[in-house]
Order: sequence, then structure tokens, then C-alpha cells
Amino acid sequence: MKFPLAVMCMALFSGNLFAETINNSTVTFDHQPILTTQLAATPPMGWSSWNYYGDRINEKVIIDTIDKMVSTGLRDAGYIYVNIDDGWQKYKGSRVDNPLAIDENKFPKGIKYLADYAHKKGMKLGIYSGPGNMTCAGYTGSEGHEKEDAALFASWGVDHLKYDSCCSHQQASQAVLKTAFGNMSEALKATGRPVVYHACHCGWQNIWQWGAKVGANQWRIGQDISDDFNYPGHREDYYFDVLDMIDRGVGLEQYSGKGHWNDYDMLIIGLHGHSKELVGTGASDTEYRTHFSMWSILSSPLLIGANLDNLTAEDLATLTNKEIIALNQDPLGLQAKRVVSNGDLQIFAKPLADGSWAVALLNRSSQTAIMSLNIQQDLDLPWKKMLVRDIGAKRDMGAFEQRYSTEVQSHEAKMLVIRSGW
Ligand code: GLA
Repeated sequence: MKFPLAVMCMALFSGNLFAETINNSTVTFDHQPILTTQLAATPPMGWSSWNYYGDRINEKVIIDTIDKMVSTGLRDAGYIYVNIDDGWQKYKGSRVDNPLAIDENKFPKGIKYLADYAHKKGMKLGIYSGPGNMTCAGYTGSEGHEKEDAALFASWGVDHLKYDSCCSHQQASQAVLKTAFGNMSEALKATGRPVVYHACHCGWQNIWQWGAKVGANQWRIGQDISDDFNYPGHREDYYFDVLDMIDRGVGLEQYSGKGHWNDYDMLIIGLHGHSKELVGTGASDTEYRTHFSMWSILSSPLLIGANLDNLTAEDLATLTNKEIIALNQDPLGLQAKRVVSNGDLQIFAKPLADGSWAVALLNRSSQTAIMSLNIQQDLDLPWKKMLVRDIGAKRDMGAFEQRYSTEVQSHEAKMLVIRSGW
């Protein structure tokens, strides 16, 4: 079945499960379009405290980060959420024995003050809790107090909640998890405040299959990221590096879409092996660029995890490349598919709202390679000619018949936008 683009866009909002053929290609993208509000209509972009600071956070860190996001141009590039992760709470231990309260040594003016500050700067504030009686770092969770906590967060003017299951629910059944995450979703809705809801479950129990049904706008597809591009195996038998995470998302494309995103975890760009919290030895500029480009084309939320003071000019250039960000924020909201997997040489692609296609030529090997995109063979497009733009280099490469070949460095993803030349 072939759908013209306009029909397909209407179908995206119709609420039906469907498979469509886009721009005459038979590379299909199936969806469960669930968007009921404009919340997270494109993947959330911003910053989160965890990857660099862990729970060593405080008011100054958050204020300085907001200011820096404005002064560096990150806010204007689309990074509007500043998310306080675990460690803002006063008490460690079970919620059964301790209330949920703000640690006033870390946050003397409270969280509402920070939300107001963020809003004044044209930004949004996120907070963290979990469905267990303890969070992952051992602070009091929200179990049994969902309504009261959601009302508290809303009264502070919070715009995003990361609700993290790991401590008490890792082994839980889907039924238990759906209730636990659903309870907070309902509680947030009852406040009337639009709060983007991250149901964080580390990719367990196939959360992508039911996350949107319990009202989540994003869910992690894997365990925590480490500051590595390609660590052999999993560090400490737990962490996922950049390539692990990319592999994890293959086959999950149909679960991601407007208002409900597969989350590849927070970005590691700018950590350079110096995180106070994450394991990993850092990656090269090329590897960080590839990480960013792939998260973008895969429509993952883009949450910077670094101390912004440590960003190099190269990191900042990577994070603010408008043409790469545009793939992530494209109104069609599709996650790219892996259309070619030739060992270490892989091609990911997705259609964009304006009729063009985004393509990533990913070289996972340790050597430079010549990679070719064949529009008929790889994308099944009937175009006679394609116009190619290298959006990493910000250069138009010209018109090509059928095939475009280019050199791709080791660990590089060459990012292209192609459109019909006829
Ligand atoms: C888990 C999550 C991390 C972070 C910590 C906080 O490990 O996966 O992203 O939120 O908990 O304790």
C-alpha cells in the first residue's frame, strides 16, 4: 500500500496502528500514534545532572547551568529542559520511614525557586523520583504517595519528571510495572499541569511495548550509558556504550513516535572520561560527533550530561549543529531504521517531513572505508537522481545517479540529507 505524504501525516494523528509506505519507498515504518497532547511532540532536548555530577548537585550547579545554557546558545539551539536527577531529596532510606523533602543544604531556596528561574529564562525544569520506596541512589521514592508527590511537583512548577524504577522494581512483572508507572501518570494528569513523563526502566520488560500505554513520553531502552564509544563487552557487566545502545534500538522503531520516544540515555559528549559519576574513559571528537548524530537520527531525547564548563569548542559545535538537530526534531517523528548491515559498515535512514531522507553512513570499524548509498537497492526509492547534502560538513555535494560513494573515517557517521533530483 502506498500513501502520499499528506495522507500519511493525517494518519499519524488518527490513532490507528498502521504501516505505510513513504515517498514511494517500501522501507516501511509502523507506528502506534498515541500523541494526545502536544507534550513531547518532538524528542525532549535539554540537560540532566546525573552523568557528570551524580548526586553531588546543588542550587548553584543548577543556576549556573541555566545561565550557561543561555550564554552558550544551547537554549536557543533547542535545549530547554534542565533536569535535576537523583540526589535532591533530604533523606536516604525507605519512604516508609522518611518523608519526601528537599535537602535544604543543597537547595536552600527550594525547587520552586529554580523552576521560576528556569521559566524566566525561557526554559523548563525537571525533577526525579521513582515508583519504589527508595530511588536508585538510595533516597526516598514515591511508592504509595504518587498523588501527593505529583501535586507537590506541580506546585513547584516542574515540567518534566524522570520516574526511575531500578531499585525495587527490576525483577517486577509487566503487570506490576504498568500499575506502578500508570499510578504516577494518572497522578500527574490529575494535577492539570503538563509534565513530560519519563518512565525510566532501563529497557527491562520490553517497556517500549507498553510505555506509551501507561502515559509515558519517553522510556530508556537500555541500562546506563558509560563514557565509551565501544568498550569490549559491557563495563562491570552492566553499562552500555554508544554502539551497544545503537544496537539495542534496532527493531524498536515502531514504538517511537510523536509524544512517546525510545530513549537511548543521556549524552556523554563533553565528559571526556572525567565524570564524577559515570564509568568510562571518554571518546574522541569524531566518536562524540557520531554518538550525537546517531541519537539525532534515531529520535532519542537529547539530554546533555556534561558539566557545561568543561565543554570544548568542538563539543559545543557538535551539540549545536542545527542541521543534525533538525533530524531529531523533524515533525514526522520517525526513528531511523538500519537498512544496510554489512558487518561494521551500516546504513541507517528515515524519511523527513519535507519529502527528503536522512541517512547515516556508520563506519564502526577501526579503518577508513569507502561507503556507498544506493537509493534503489538500499532505500527502494524510484528517484532517477538524488541531490546530496553532507549535513555534518554543511556542504552540498551535488547530484548523483543511483549511487553516492564517500570516504568514512573509522568510527565516523557521515550524515546526509538526500532529496529527489527529478
Ligand atoms: C539509574 C538511572 C540513571 C540515574 C540514576 C540515579 O541508574 O539509570 O540515569 O537516574 O539511577 O540514581
